[in-house]
Amino acid sequence: MPSLNDVARVHTRLDGDDLAWLHLLLADWQIIADLSFADLVLWLPDREGTGYWAGAQMRPTTGPTAYVDDLVGAFTPVGSKPLLDSAYDHQRVAREGDPEWRDDIPVRVEAIPVRRGNQVIAVIARNTNLLGVRTPSRLELAYLQSATDLTQMISNGFFPFPGQRSDHADSPRVGDGFLRIDATGKVTYASPNALSVYRRLGLATDLTGLCLADATRALVPAERRPDEETLSAVLSGRLPTDTEVGTEDAVLILRSIPLRPTGEHLGALVLVRDVTDLRSRDRELVTKEATIREIHHRVKNNLQTVAALLRLQARRIGNEEGREALEEAVRRVGSIAIVHETLSQAFDERVDFDAVVDRLLLMVADVSSRGGRVQCTRSGSFGTLPAEVATPLAMVLTEVLQNAVEHGYPAGAAGTITVEPERLAGRLRVTVEDDGVGLPEGFDPDTSLNLGLSIVRTLVESELGGMLELRAGRSCGARAVVDVPLDGG
Ligand SMILES: Nc1ncnc2c1ncn2[C@@H]1O[C@H](COP(=O)(O)OP(=O)(O)O)[C@@H](O)[C@H]1O
Ligand SMILES: [Mg+2]
Repeated sequence: MPSLNDVARVHTRLDGDDLAWLHLLLADWQIIADLSFADLVLWLPDREGTGYWAGAQMRPTTGPTAYVDDLVGAFTPVGSKPLLDSAYDHQRVAREGDPEWRDDIPVRVEAIPVRRGNQVIAVIARNTNLLGVRTPSRLELAYLQSATDLTQMISNGFFPFPGQRSDHADSPRVGDGFLRIDATGKVTYASPNALSVYRRLGLATDLTGLCLADATRALVPAERRPDEETLSAVLSGRLPTDTEVGTEDAVLILRSIPLRPTGEHLGALVLVRDVTDLRSRDRELVTKEATIREIHHRVKNNLQTVAALLRLQARRIGNEEGREALEEAVRRVGSIAIVHETLSQAFDERVDFDAVVDRLLLMVADVSSRGGRVQCTRSGSFGTLPAEVATPLAMVLTEVLQNAVEHGYPAGAAGTITVEPERLAGRLRVTVEDDGVGLPEGFDPDTSLNLGLSIVRTLVESELGGMLELRAGRSCGARAVVDVPLDGG
C-alpha cells in the first residue's frame, strides 16, 4: 500500500508544510474515528483538479467498520462524491440528511474540509456505521458531541495543534477513559472507564461536577505530579498536551485536547489511562537489566582473578614449556573476561564486538612485544553480536591472532596482521591474514592435534555452527577464515 507521502508526491500539489500538517492530524485521528464510531478516509485533491486520491484511512476501535477494503491509493473523480466536492469548494463540513445504504448497513457520510491557514488542503470523509449507534447512550452522545467539536476545529484550521504531537505508545485512547470538561475546568461527563481509573487513584465520589484539576490535586501527592502551572493548564483543558500523575497505588496519563470549534474555548476532552501495570513492568525490566549487567561485571572480576592466579603460578614455574602453557591459559581467560566486561556495559545482551576485537588486538600485540614490530589492525566493522556468539568468537580470534604473532614472525620480524569482518546475509565472516613466514611445509590444519587449533575448531564447528579455513595467505603468510551463521542477520 502506498504511503501518504507517496500519494501526495505523485498526485498532488501539497507542499512539505501541508504534509507536516496532515501527518500531525493523522497522529491523532484515531481519537476522532473512535469518538464518532466512524471510518475516516483522507482524500487529497488531485494536481489537475480532476478528483481526489485516498491518502490515508482509519477504522474505529469502538465500533464496526464501514469499509472492508483498503482505500489508500484509490482515485475518485470530481462529481462522483458530491459531498467531497461540496466540502472542498465551500470549505465547510458537508453532510447528507439520509444515510447511504451499503450492503444493508446504513452509513452516514460526511465530508470535513482540512484547513491549514486559509486553504483547504484535504477532505476527510467520515462514514458512520449507524447500526452501532441507533439508540445512543449518554456515553455515545458525549463521544459524538466531542467528535463534532473536533471536526469543526479541523474545518476551521484549529486542529491539529502545531508542535503538539502525542503519538508515543502510552498515549491514552478514547476507550481507556474519556472525560469532558467545560470552559471552567469542571467535569461534565466521565466515562465508566475514566471513573474507574480515578477510583484507583483513590476517588470516592462521582467525578461529574468536580473541578478536574482540584480533584486530581487532592488525590495525588505533590511529588508525584507535574508543577502547579502545568497541572492546572493541562487539567483545566487549556494546554493540548499530556502529563503523568500517580500515587503509591496507581499511575495514570492524562491527555488534554482543548475544544475550540469556532475559536472560543469551550472546554476540553481529557483522555485518561491507567498505566500502573505498564510502569511497574518498566521498573522490573530496568532492574532485570541492571542485575544482568552486574552479573557480567562480577564474572569479569572473577575471571580476572583466575587469570591473575595463573600468571602468579606461571612466574614460579621453572620449566619453560609449562610457563608458556600457563601464560596461554591466562590469555584465554583474559579474552573471555573482555567479552563479559563489554556485556557489563551493554544495555541489552548484545556486544559491540569492535570494542572487544580492538582490546584483543592490543592484548595480542602486547604479548608479541618481544619483537614488538608486528602491527595488528582491524579493517571494517563487526557491528553488534549476541552474547552467545561473542564469547566463543573472542576466544577463537585470540587463538588465531596469537598463532599469527607467535608463528608468523620468528625472531622479531616485522609485519602486519589484519582482521577483516564482513557482515553477509545471516552470516559473519572474519578473515585474519598475516604477512609472516606462512604455514609449515605440508601442514594440514584439519589433522593438527595442537591444543590451540583444537579449541578453535571445536568452538567454531560445535559452538558456533560455522566453518574454519586455514591456508596460505594471498601473497605470503597465512590466512584464517571463520564463517559463522547469525540469527536474524
Ligand atoms: N599464522 C600462522 N603462521 C604460521 N604457522 C601457523 C599459523 N597459525 C598456525 N600455525 C601453525 O599451526 C600450528 C598449530 O597451532 P596451534 O594449534 O595453535 O598450536 P600452538 O600454537 O600451540 O603451536 C602451529 O604450531 C603453527 O605451526
Ligand atoms: Mg597456538
